[in-house]
Amino acid sequence: MSNATTRRPKISVIGAGFVGSTCAHWAASKELGDVVLVDINGDAAKGKALDLFEASPVENFDSNLAGGSDYALTKDSDVVVITAGLPRKPGMSRDDLLVTNAKIVKECAQNVAKYSPNCVLIIVSNPLDAMCHVAISATGFPRERVIGMAGVLDSARYRAFVAMETNTSVEDVQGFTLGGHGDTMVPMPRYTSVGGIPLAQLVSKARIDAICDRTRKGGAEIVELLKTGSAYYAPASSAIAMVESIVRDKKRILPCAVMLNGEYGHNGLFVGVLCKLGSKGMEGVPMLEMNGEEKAMFDKSAAAVKALVDDMKRLGLN
Ligand code: NAI
Ligand code: 2OP
Repeated sequence: MSNATTRRPKISVIGAGFVGSTCAHWAASKELGDVVLVDINGDAAKGKALDLFEASPVENFDSNLAGGSDYALTKDSDVVVITAGLPRKPGMSRDDLLVTNAKIVKECAQNVAKYSPNCVLIIVSNPLDAMCHVAISATGFPRERVIGMAGVLDSARYRAFVAMETNTSVEDVQGFTLGGHGDTMVPMPRYTSVGGIPLAQLVSKARIDAICDRTRKGGAEIVELLKTGSAYYAPASSAIAMVESIVRDKKRILPCAVMLNGEYGHNGLFVGVLCKLGSKGMEGVPMLEMNGEEKAMFDKSAAAVKALVDDMKRLGLN
């Protein structure tokens, strides 16, 4: 039967910098749908989209690509990923970054909602959890359709470090981090396994602690090496894993920042938890049992997010 009338998923990426353009690359090369890149620098977005399209005859992927500064290009997107915003620069305070990126994310989210009122919005811009608050206020979307990307990335780093430690394939390492995207994030060794074997049976407590510490500082480790910016391959790959689960309705269980509605005792706050991602966006928060120590770390991380959200209120940003 012909599927000639079937519409391909449409994925828009706002911000065509390092993370945004790499998102476009992964999404197109996996043929997740047609891809639009929007940036305040419209020519750069257009150029990157054209360059990527010109790679498609060689790489043999079939995705339409477009780019520019006009949000009309994003009309009727199924999923939109917001990566616009500055990374922190020397001399910039946390408040400066909050002010700058909150304004950018608010403007981007409002434009996205105007052209794609039914899309699922994935936020990447930092400070991640706070920017999710900006996006949900700016769009008025329900919590099911505003989801932050951080947990997939932090968990990927954690899994990579466990694989290095145990000299095993990353494919066989399962594990995740919860909480906010910052120094207080909560890796979960008790729920980590290598080939099905609990991590604690393979690795000493001291080494597990060192892996968790490296994971918490994973973003800073890359910044120190790159010197001019922050990570983008793993962040983009993580955002596109979320996009894939949504456009293919895979219903994967991935750690994402979602607005909690009583889960784990928190309300009205974006924090990283396990969530089910499908065509409707966040389709559920499967609850896991935390012991006292894990819950205390999770609450501390939620408190750090709340402090940022309170800062935004104090600065009149949200
Ligand atoms: P980048 O500087 O390479 O790209 C940012 C892009 O945003 C630039 O192309 C810029 O022109 C564009 N932009 C700025 N204002 C805009 C506006 N008003 N409208 C549309 N586009 C606008 O930065 P990069 O490396 O791509 O990072 C982007 C953001 O993602 C940063 O805030 C960074 O901290 C964050 N990030 C978050 C991660 C996470 O785990 N949540 C991981 C990695 C990065
Ligand atoms: C990261 O974790 C900068 O949030 C970014 O790499």
